[in-house]
Amino acid sequence: MSEPNTTKKKTRVDEKTLLVCVNKRLACGERGGSSLANCLEQMASDRPASGVKVRRVVCLGKCDNGPNVHRYGGPVYHRVETQKLPEIFEEAAGQS
Ligand code: FES
Repeated sequence: MSEPNTTKKKTRVDEKTLLVCVNKRLACGERGGSSLANCLEQMASDRPASGVKVRRVVCLGKCDNGPNVHRYGGPVYHRVETQKLPEIFEEAAGQS
């Protein structure tokens, strides 16, 4: 019997968490959701002191308006384009 994989890092979800829909079968994945997630993950990696966390999710229930990014406890951003990411990131970073 193999040991459970304990290398996966668990992160607490809070107002600094950005949930990025990357569903490949529905709207967000086809419209660049994974690319948005990559960009936000890079921003979070570049600025660890911001406390912003990025989680990839499979659907936020707003498929027709994808790609979607949801700040946990806050707004869902629809039809997100790369240019909008710094603003979304800063809003998350500003949460306490
Ligand atoms: S596929 Fe992204 S919200 Fe449903």
